Amino acid sequence: MKFKQNIRGNVALGVNPLGCKQEVLNQIDYVKSKGHYDAPKKVLIIGASSSYGLATRISLAFGAGADTIGVSFEKGPKSERNLGTAGWYNNIAFREAAEKEGLVAKNFVTDAFSHDAKQEVIDYIKNEFGGKVDLVVYSLASGRRTDPDTGETYTSSIKAIGDKVVGPNINMQKEEFFIDTLEPATEQEIADTVKVMGGEDWELWMKALKEADVLSEGVLTTNYSYLGTELNRPYYGGGTLGQAKADCDVKADNINKLLADINGKAQIVVATAVTTKASSVIPFFIVYCIGLYKVMSEKGTHETPIMHQDRIYREMIYGDKPEYDDEGRLRPDSWELDSDTQAETEELIMKLNEDNFNNDMTAYDLFYKEFSNLSGFMVDNYVDEDITIDELKSWEY
Ligand code: NAI
Repeated sequence: MKFKQNIRGNVALGVNPLGCKQEVLNQIDYVKSKGHYDAPKKVLIIGASSSYGLATRISLAFGAGADTIGVSFEKGPKSERNLGTAGWYNNIAFREAAEKEGLVAKNFVTDAFSHDAKQEVIDYIKNEFGGKVDLVVYSLASGRRTDPDTGETYTSSIKAIGDKVVGPNINMQKEEFFIDTLEPATEQEIADTVKVMGGEDWELWMKALKEADVLSEGVLTTNYSYLGTELNRPYYGGGTLGQAKADCDVKADNINKLLADINGKAQIVVATAVTTKASSVIPFFIVYCIGLYKVMSEKGTHETPIMHQDRIYREMIYGDKPEYDDEGRLRPDSWELDSDTQAETEELIMKLNEDNFNNDMTAYDLFYKEFSNLSGFMVDNYVDEDITIDELKSWEY
C-alpha cells in the first residue's frame, strides 16, 4: 500500500502509519541520548497521542522510566482510503516500545470530556496501576466539547476580540502567502471557546481523581499554556484562545485549593510555539513560526515538542533550572520571548511577501517538514515497507 500526504488548507488528512512509528522511535532516541533523570513513576497524560502530550509521555517513560496511562481521541484504519489518524499509530508505537522496556503503557481511546472516560481511567488506576498517580499532565487540544452534565456540545472559535485582525497568512496546501482577515468573536463565541479550551475539564478530572483517592501525596498536575508576544497578541493572547488560557490560570488556583490537603500542586507551564496540528490552523501563526524558527535555529534555541518537553521535565520541573513568573507559571518559553529573538523575528516577518516566504530567508521548509512529520511523512530514518490494510487493522492500541 502507498501512503500519500494529503493536506487541505493547513489540515493534514493523509497519514503514513509506518512513518508515525519511526517518528515515535526518533523521539525515543532523542530522550535516551540525554540519559536518565529522576521523576515520578506513575503518570496520567490526558491528550497523549500527539505533539506536546506525546512528547511528555516519551520523555517521562524513556527518560525517567515512568509507567504511563495515555488518554486520547483517535481513529483507527477502516480501509485503504480511510487509514484513521496519526495519533492512533503513535499510541501503538509508543506502547510497543515502552512494553519492550518493561514499562506499563496503557492507552484509552475515548472522549476525555465525558464522565465515563474519567471513571474508566480511575478504575484502571485502582485495579491495575498500583492505586495512585503522582503526575497528571493535561495536554488536550480540541475544537469541540460536549458538556458531560448537560449533553450540550460547544465549538471553539479562533477569533480576535474587539477589532478584526488583518495580516499575512500561509496556505500550505497551495504553498501560498495571502492576506487573511480574522473577524472579532461574539460574546457567545468567546464563552464557547473558554468552555472547550479553558480549564473546566482539567478541574473536573482533578476533582474526580481526588474524590476517587487515586492521587498520591504531593501530586503534581501540569497544563500547557501559551502567552506569546506582541507579534501574535492580536490573534492569540488578545483573542478567544487567550481567554481560554486565562481561564486555565483561574482553574489552576481552584485545583491548588483542592489539592492542598495532599500537598498537591497545579502548575501552568507556558510552553513555546511549536508545529502541531492544533497550532497549524491558527490564522497568521505559521508566518510567525517561520520567522521565529529561522531566528531561533540560528541562535541554536529552536525546539521541537520532544526537545521542549524533555527540557521542561528533565531540567525545569524535576531539575534545578526552573524559571517562574510572578504568577507562579513555569516559563520555558523564555527562549522564544528573548528580546533579541523577538526583534529579529519581527524584522524578518515584516519583509515577507508571496515571492520570498518559502525561500531560505525563512524556516518555511523546516515548518513544512515538522508539519509533515506529525502525519508520518518526511520522517528521518524512515524505511519504506510493504504493508496491507489488514495488517494495519490488526495492530492493537
Ligand atoms: P494536538 O492537537 O497535537 O494534541 C491534542 C491531543 O488531545 C491529542 O492527543 C488528541 O487525541 C487529544 N484530544 C483531543 N480531543 C480529545 C477528546 N475529546 N478526548 C480525548 N483526547 C482528545 O495539540 P497540541 O498542540 O500538542 O496542544 C496541547 C496543549 O498544548 C494545548 O493546550 C495547547 O494550547 C498547548 N500549547 C500548544 C502550543 C503550540 O504551539 N502548539 C504552544 C503552547 C501550548
